[in-house]
Amino acid sequence: MSEAKRLAGEKAMDWVEDDMVVGVGTGSTVAHFIDALAGMKDRIAGAVSSSEQSTQRLRGHGIEVLDLNACGPIPLYVDGADECDPGRRLIKGGGAALTREKIIAEAARTFVCIIDPSKEVEVLGRFPLPIEVVPMARSLVGREIVALTGGQPVWRQGTVTDNGNWVLDVHGLSISDPVALEQLLNQVPGVVSVGLFARRPADVVIVGGTPPRIR
Ligand code: A5P
Repeated sequence: MSEAKRLAGEKAMDWVEDDMVVGVGTGSTVAHFIDALAGMKDRIAGAVSSSEQSTQRLRGHGIEVLDLNACGPIPLYVDGADECDPGRRLIKGGGAALTREKIIAEAARTFVCIIDPSKEVEVLGRFPLPIEVVPMARSLVGREIVALTGGQPVWRQGTVTDNGNWVLDVHGLSISDPVALEQLLNQVPGVVSVGLFARRPADVVIVGGTPPRIR
């Protein structure tokens, strides 16, 4: 799959324009995008990064990393996904970077999602849904998830997010109405963010292949 990821990451360069602030996601597909972006580093205004991991890779290439607060709305966000449905709605957060990813997606005019074909599904939920929680609320949120969804939350032990929080992965969901589930789970106290990108889906999906497929 890494060849498909590379092809998707490189194709996303078609959306990068001179003098842009580029929002950059997290993960192995995005790593290919960052490597390709390095070839244009003197022509962009800089990058806004969704994780320490991506920040390190960007800086390693000499790409300036900017504070989102200093940027206002940004024209472009490029990120991967763990699952993508036909409505370009996503599950994200396999790399535990979901909260910052969601913030940048919200700030972006265009969200380009780069995936390999294995990420395409008819209905979201085969991939366990990541939820970032404030540590003291882990058990509470877990119980509420069971009551609200019937899914089985599993604590991703040993993982601490860049924001100092923990992650629950919810198994056993079949998400027929992603917008409603995102809104429902967002309301549980202790939930920092939900790895459903449905209220703000991707605008464009690039599926890596020869040639890449644009959805
Ligand atoms: C990071 O938290 C995730 O949202 C990633 O975007 C997702 O896990 C995709 O990762 P890969 O590109 O490594 O498959």
